[in-house]
Amino acid sequence: MRFDEAYFDAGIDRRGTHCEKWDDRNVMPPDAIPLWVADMDFRCAPAIEEAVRKRAQHPCFGYNDEEAEALCDDALCAFWKRRHGLTLKPEQIITLPCVITGLNFCVRLFTREGDSVAMFTPVYGPFYKAVEQNGRKVSAVPLEADENGAYRMNLAGMKEALENGSRLIMLCNPHNPVSRLWTKEELTALVKLADQYDAKIVSDEIHADFVFAPGVFTPILSIARAEERAVMLCAASKTFNVAGLQQAAAVTFSEKIHRGIRAMLNAVGITGGNTFALTATEAAYREGDDWLDGLISYLDGNRKALRDFVETNLPKVRLAPMEATYLAWLDLRSYGLSCRELQEKCRRHGVVFTGGTFFGPEGEGHLRVNFGCPRSQLLAGMKRLCEALKEEE
Ligand SMILES: Cc1ncc(COP(=O)(O)O)c(C=O)c1O
Repeated sequence: MRFDEAYFDAGIDRRGTHCEKWDDRNVMPPDAIPLWVADMDFRCAPAIEEAVRKRAQHPCFGYNDEEAEALCDDALCAFWKRRHGLTLKPEQIITLPCVITGLNFCVRLFTREGDSVAMFTPVYGPFYKAVEQNGRKVSAVPLEADENGAYRMNLAGMKEALENGSRLIMLCNPHNPVSRLWTKEELTALVKLADQYDAKIVSDEIHADFVFAPGVFTPILSIARAEERAVMLCAASKTFNVAGLQQAAAVTFSEKIHRGIRAMLNAVGITGGNTFALTATEAAYREGDDWLDGLISYLDGNRKALRDFVETNLPKVRLAPMEATYLAWLDLRSYGLSCRELQEKCRRHGVVFTGGTFFGPEGEGHLRVNFGCPRSQLLAGMKRLCEALKEEE
């Protein structure tokens, strides 16, 4: 099968499948275009579809043996070696229900109640929740943006947070929502700081596979001295659009941290993976490369189309450079509207974005655009945004 423009242009009708993005009536007005929740409006790779169908044909879904998970771990290692040049061993991998589970576990493992956890903000909303719902405090380190809307790691701010007592850094690599692909230099400086203050790093690398040339993704575990203090969280869920199956992995080179995370899993009684998630994840990692290459090339086209659209039609809007992820960060502060007002206007014009404040207070006046959809859908949604903003001119 060819995973070309026509394949991804076709998209898939997801309505009526209880999918949050299209079917959540509290958020989506009838006939609105959803450019919000971070999953994609494409069918998954045929290899995944076939593997799941094949497994479903045997109508008994009892407990899985250890090999089911071991095969998945092997496939994950081979995928990360092939795609990112990172050498992992199956015994360094811990299967989790999802990445957010890993964020919560790391908060509990590395900090005590009342401690603070440092993170670059604005950042994916559940980062805050993982800290606060476990009785810890967020130490927000605002990212710095230049006049073009390009964000930089605020290392001086992180140093201050560590000086003030934070002993855990929650990193989003690449960064959702500002679409930054952290460089080896930035990550090396961050690990050096962590080393200096004896802090741990949990690096959420769920968006690692969405990187646009000439950019290169740098895993935290490839950085010198990260081995004893870093946990990488990764998944096939975003990459292959199977998030509803719920599976992710924590990887660390430290045996001590590995034992700690396993103890967390035992403490909450998670003893094994889900049959369909294991099946789909293994198939994705083993046989999904062609589909993924086609997808990245299509998303690159969407990225360019979005940039052209904003330059031509929305001169007052600043679009952060899109280095990674399928999420774009729009700065609409020149309109003087709050996120709530922006979202309300957009909804009335039949398009839904994620409001910037989901990512923290610095997101006020911003919207996040999900461009993981057919290009025609993306551009139709953006036209509706223009119409909504015309009311302001
Ligand atoms: C940075 C980031 N981490 C984690 C998640 C959610 O991952 P999971 O569904 O595996 O918990 C998302 C989903 O949007 C995300 O963007």
